[in-house]
Order: sequence, then structure tokens, then C-alpha cells
Amino acid sequence: MLCYNDSNMRNERLDVTMLSEELTEPALTVSGLWLSYPDRPDVLQNVSLKVMPGERVGLIGPNGAGKTTFFLGLCGVLKPSAGEIVVLGNPVVNGDFRPEVALVFQNPDDQLFCPSVWDDIAFGPQNMGLSKDEIEVRVTEALSVVGAVELADRPSHRLSEGEKRIVSIAGVLAMHPRLLIYDEPSANLDIRSRRRLIRLLQASKETILIASHDLELVLEVCNRVVLVDKGCIIADGDPRQVMGDDKLMVAHGQEKPHSLIPHRIPHHAL
Ligand SMILES: Nc1ncnc2c1ncn2[C@@H]1O[C@H](COP(=O)(O)OP(=O)(O)OP(=O)(O)O)[C@@H](O)[C@H]1O
Ligand SMILES: [Mg+2]
Repeated sequence: MLCYNDSNMRNERLDVTMLSEELTEPALTVSGLWLSYPDRPDVLQNVSLKVMPGERVGLIGPNGAGKTTFFLGLCGVLKPSAGEIVVLGNPVVNGDFRPEVALVFQNPDDQLFCPSVWDDIAFGPQNMGLSKDEIEVRVTEALSVVGAVELADRPSHRLSEGEKRIVSIAGVLAMHPRLLIYDEPSANLDIRSRRRLIRLLQASKETILIASHDLELVLEVCNRVVLVDKGCIIADGDPRQVMGDDKLMVAHGQEKPHSLIPHRIPHHAL
């Protein structure tokens, strides 16, 4: 695995990480994780990763690399064939409901199944055993944060794809999780909703993992990036360094983000 730890920026991050590591336990520790599907073995191969509280980690990599599979493992949806996952101090147990760990699914239809948007967002808080009043506060707050108050009474299955994504995010926020896992959160979002999402992610104090093909979003939001290909971690480090490495990016089906390419000012503009 390539570790990008030679820049000042990365060193600063490492120093902070090392310091906090002595004081706090990791938000996530994955050790030697192997994940398979019944008809597809070893989709994830011997993955190890440690994430400290407050880190915002971008997961990038080509289609089929194993990003979603990894997230399903973290949430206890997929049972590891080997390895261990510890989230917020407790091992992940297959099938457990842990509201402090929440996943925004890549496909919103996997997440939204209630008759109305309100019910969908209230589902998590209800399962947490919160009072009616608290549920009301949580749902209203979550809808307001994502800018979707007017969608509250709409049937979830009739929403546009972008609206479904926004509601899925609200559903997760309503549980006040400490580890937020976003699988392609900006897919189908218009410019305004994408910008709102970026601001929300930037302002978050929680630990965040984001799988995304929107590399500019990853650059704006994440302080660390992990490149995954064929079920393995290929590189881990400062986003500008990892994503700025042309050869590495191309070798794994990626492109250097546009904003990392130096642009010449055309003669006629001088
Ligand atoms: N339910 C499933 N059963 C069998 N194979 C699956 C299943 N889900 C995913 N796979 C396979 O596992 C591999 C990893 O898929 P995964 O969805 O984790 O990739 P990804 O990195 O999230 O890709 P994308 O960028 O397209 O979302 C792929 O080869 C995929 O075809
Ligand atoms: Mg995926």
C-alpha cells in the first residue's frame, strides 16, 4: 500500500493523529477484513484501516472496486469471512442495530420504504426508542438541515432520484450518528443541493467516510483519501497528494481532478 506521508500537510495530520491516538481510541479499526458474496468470493481482501475521531475519509476507486461492499461490512449487513471490525470501541456484530453508525445507501431505494418522507426519517429515531416529541424535533431538524422541509408529506417512492438522496441523508442525520458513512452522496444532486451537502459535510464534527466518484467533492471535504481497487487498499494519504499522482490515478481507472491541474492563462487574456 502507498502511504502518502512525506508532505508537511500529511505530517501535520499524522502528528495530530498520533497525538490524539494516545488520548482517544479510534472511531474505526478494521483488521485483516475479508468479505465475500455467496457467488463471489473475496471481494474485499485483507483490508486494514484505522480512522480517528473527526477524520473525514474519502474512499475512491473504480466501479466494482469494493467500496460499497466495505461499507456493508462496517454496518454489519455483510458478515466477514475473516477479520475484525471495531466501531466506536465495540466489535460490529452481524445484524445489530447501532444508531451511532449510520449508512446513506448508494441506492436510496434500499433505504426508503415508508409511506411518507416523514415516516422514513422518523424510522431511525423511533427504533432508538425516543419520545414522540423528540422524534418530531429530530425529523424537523433533519429536514431543515438538508433543505427538504417541503417534502415531508410526500410519498418517498414518488420522489425524484435527487430528492430521494436528500431524504436518505436526512434519515441518517436524524439518528445523530457518531460515524457517518456516505455511499455516493452527491449522485443525482443538482448544483445547489450538492453545494449544501458539501457545506454540511465540511461543518460536521463527526467521523465521516465517503465513497464517491465526485473527486472534487472529496477534495473539498476530506482530509484523507483511501484508494481502493480490486478489493485492496492501494493508497492512503493526503487527498491532494494521492489524487494528484497522475500515474497512480490512471493505473486505477481514475483521473487527476480538474482543480489539481495547473491551468495556463491564455495569451489573449493577459
Ligand atoms: N450482492 C452481490 N452479489 C454478488 N456480487 C456482488 C454483490 N454486490 C456487489 N457484488 C460484486 O462485488 C464487487 C464489488 O462491488 P461494490 O458494489 O462493492 O463496488 P463499488 O466499489 O461500490 O462500485 P461502484 O463504484 O460501482 O459503486 C463487484 O464486482 C460487484 O459486482
Ligand atoms: Mg458502490
